[in-house]
Amino acid sequence: MCGIVAYIGKREAYPILIKGLQRLEYRGYDSAGVALLNGDLNVYKKAGKVSDLAEYVKGKNVDGHVGMGHTRWATHGEPNDRNAHPHFSQTQEFAIIHNGIIENYASIKAELIQEGHVFHSDTDTEVLIHLIEEIYNKEKVVLEEAVRLALGEVVGAYAIVILSKKEPNKMIAARKGSPIVVGIGKDEFFVASDATPIIEYTKNVAYLNDGEVAIMDNGKLTVKTIGNEIKTPYIQELEMKLEALEKGGYEHFMLKEIYEQPRSINDSMRGRFDSKTGSIRLGGISEFDKKLRNAKRMIIVACGTSWHAGLVAEYLIEDLARIPVEVEYASEFRYRNPIINEDDVLVAISQSGETADTLAAVELAKSKGATIFGVCNVVGSSIPRATHAGAYTHAGPEIGVASTKAFTAQVTVLTLMALQLAHMRGTITESRFRQVLNELENIPAKVEIALKCNEQTKVIAEKYRDAKNFLYLGRGYGFPVALEGALKLKEISYIHAEGYPAAEMKHGPIALIDEEMPVVVIATKHGSYEKVVSNIQEVKARKGKIIAIVTEGDEEVKKMADYVIEIPETDEILVPLVSVIPLQLLAYHIAVMRGCNVDQPRNLAKSVTVE
Ligand code: G6P
Repeated sequence: MCGIVAYIGKREAYPILIKGLQRLEYRGYDSAGVALLNGDLNVYKKAGKVSDLAEYVKGKNVDGHVGMGHTRWATHGEPNDRNAHPHFSQTQEFAIIHNGIIENYASIKAELIQEGHVFHSDTDTEVLIHLIEEIYNKEKVVLEEAVRLALGEVVGAYAIVILSKKEPNKMIAARKGSPIVVGIGKDEFFVASDATPIIEYTKNVAYLNDGEVAIMDNGKLTVKTIGNEIKTPYIQELEMKLEALEKGGYEHFMLKEIYEQPRSINDSMRGRFDSKTGSIRLGGISEFDKKLRNAKRMIIVACGTSWHAGLVAEYLIEDLARIPVEVEYASEFRYRNPIINEDDVLVAISQSGETADTLAAVELAKSKGATIFGVCNVVGSSIPRATHAGAYTHAGPEIGVASTKAFTAQVTVLTLMALQLAHMRGTITESRFRQVLNELENIPAKVEIALKCNEQTKVIAEKYRDAKNFLYLGRGYGFPVALEGALKLKEISYIHAEGYPAAEMKHGPIALIDEEMPVVVIATKHGSYEKVVSNIQEVKARKGKIIAIVTEGDEEVKKMADYVIEIPETDEILVPLVSVIPLQLLAYHIAVMRGCNVDQPRNLAKSVTVE
C-alpha cells in the first residue's frame, strides 16, 4: 500500500525512480510523484497513474543524482495533486515520501499551526516533514538527528525517505510497520518498499528492522535505531530474477501469473518431499517439530485470498492431522480479545508478508506465548521476520493485484504441512500418505491441462459479461474455491459475486436466482457429488444458469448445466489446486471484456499495510 523508491549515487536518479514506480505501481495507483535534488529540490506530482506523472514531467528539469518517488493509495485526503507525495516542509527545503499512517498527526499539526506552519494538503505525511524541519532548525542538529527525534514523537506506521537541500549528499530512510529495503551498490544506494525496483542494479540488500533509521551519506550506509543505537545491517543476496517482473509477452501480469502456475506449484514443493521414499520435510516444521506436533489447536489468520487458502488448510489439517483448526480474519481476530494459549500454534498466511492486520495478529499471539508459523511469499518481508518458523511459498513475485499463483502456492505448502503433521502424529496411514504425495507430483501437469479451458472460459465470459450478479457454489474442498472464484470476479470485473456453501444456498441466496443469474458450481466427482448435483437441480428449477466445473468425462452434470468445464481427475483433497484455474480465467476474461484494468483494479492495493 503505497510504493516508495529512492536513489543516491552517481547515476541520474529520475529514470531509476520512474521505472521503479512502474514496478511498484501494484501497491497503489491513485497518484504519483518524484523529488529530485540538484541544487534545487524539485517536486513533481500528479493524480493518476505513474504514466500520467511521466507525461507531466516531460520537458521539466529532472536532473539530479539524488531523488525519490512515490505511488500512492490514499488513506488521509482524497487522491488529487495536492495530496500526492512527495510533500514539502514549510520552507520547501525538506521533502518526504511516506507509506503508512501517522496516527497522532492531528495534535502535532495543531501545535505546528500555532507556531505559524501553513499546510497545503490534507495528509498526515506533510505534518511529519514540517515537524522534522521544525526540530532541525530549533535543535540545530544534522538531518538524521532531526528525523530520529521527530520519529520519537510520532505514533503510527511508516516507511519514509527524507531529502533536504540543506544536506544535499544525504538520504535518510526509516521504518516502523511498513517495509523498507536498501539496495547496496558501489558508492550508491537504492531504497524501496520491496526489491522489485532494485533488482536490476544490485542483488545486495539490507532489510531495515522496525524502529531503524538508515543514513546514506557520501557512499556510506549507517543504520541506527530511533533510540540512537548503532546497528550493523545484515546484507543478503536477492534470489529474484528480473524476468519475473516483466509481462513476458502476456497482455496482463494476471494472465501471465495464471499461466505460471504449473511452474510455481512445482517451485513451492521442490525439494520438500520425495514420493519414492515417502518422506516430507518443510524445514520450518522440523525445527519446531515438538510444538507443532503437540499443538492443542491451530489458529489460522489471514486476509483476502490468503484467508481462502487458510480455509482449505483447515479442511486439510483437521482431515489429515486431526488437530482442531480455527480460521480467522486477521482484522477481526486482533480486535476481539481472543483466547490464545501457549500450546496454540498460530499460522499466518500472507502473500506479501506485509498485511498490517495479519502482522498485528502475529504480534498479539506472540505476546500470549503461542508458537507462530508463517506461510508467506515475499522473502524477507515483515511477517516471516516476526514468526518463530515458517515456509516460504516460492511462487515468485506476484504483480497482478488479484492473487492467483500465490493462492495455489499457499495451498500447496499448506497441503505439505498438513501431510507432514499427519505423518508425525501418526494420523494418516502410510499408504494414504504415499498416495497423496504421488498425486501431488502430478498436480503441475494437471494444472497445465486445466489451463486448456482458456478458450472455453472466453466463450462463457462473452455470454455473461453483462451479468449483474454471480453466485459461486461448492461443498467440502470446493467451498473455499467457490469463495475464491467469487472474490476474483468482484475484484477485477466489479460484478457483484457471492461464494456460498452449496447446501446453504437454500437458506438465502436461492431467493436471488432467476433466469438472469449465472451460478458457477464446483461439481467434481468426490464425496458430496450427488448432493451438489441436487443443488444444481435446485438452481435449474428456478431457471438459473449453470456453469459447472466437473471431472473429466462427467456425463451427469453435462445434461443439466448450461456450460461445463472439465478438469482432470485428482484426489479430493487436491481439488482446490486444479478447480480454481477455470475460475481465475473466467474472472480474467470477463474483466478484460468489460474494459477493466485487470492488473490494477480500482480501490484495491496488492499489499495492505494500513489497518
Ligand atoms: C489485498 C490483496 C489481495 C490479498 C490480500 C491479503 O486485499 O488485494 O489479493 O489476498 O490483500 O494479502 P496478503 O499479502 O496478506 O496475502
